[in-house]
Amino acid sequence: MKALLVYVSVEHGNTEKVAIAMAEVLGAEVKKAEEVVLSSISDYELIGFGSGIFYGKFHPDLLKLVDDLPRLNARSFIFSTGGVGSHKLHPQLRKKLEDKGMKVVGGFSCKAWDTYGAFKILGGINKGRPNEEDLKKARAFAEGLLRP
Ligand SMILES: Cc1cc2nc3c(=O)[nH]c(=O)nc-3n(C[C@H](O)[C@H](O)[C@H](O)COP(=O)(O)O)c2cc1C
Repeated sequence: MKALLVYVSVEHGNTEKVAIAMAEVLGAEVKKAEEVVLSSISDYELIGFGSGIFYGKFHPDLLKLVDDLPRLNARSFIFSTGGVGSHKLHPQLRKKLEDKGMKVVGGFSCKAWDTYGAFKILGGINKGRPNEEDLKKARAFAEGLLRP
């Protein structure tokens, strides 16, 4: 199966760690959003889209990339990292992926180092995350995607 993970990870590299862990399991290529070549994206059967969460949204560069995609019939999944680390914000991206014709087969989120605003004074919250336990969960999630 030809798989691709696309991510934006501009703050602390948190989402990149998750992307790499999943890609190892899936044997997937990993690309930053700006490296994606739109004309070859239909080569992939499975595509994961991920970023940190900023003011309750996925990173604008990831959302813009999805807006720019052609219609695709790939399976897709969503991953995110954030101070909260919740799936609650995934529907905003799910809807965009479905509007492009993709089937969204899952989502993964985890708490991650967050130095937004006043948290910075204390060195941030969730320091050290994603940690090995988080990456283990990311790998287990990816293994689930390999099962029929
Ligand atoms: C300006 C700013 C806004 C943020 N807003 C949120 C938010 O709304 N919800 C949340 O859970 N985390 C929020 N965070 C924390 C980031 O989502 C978190 O650090 C994320 O893991 C960054 O991912 P990255 O290192 O891959 O870029 C915010 C961080 C910054 C700097």
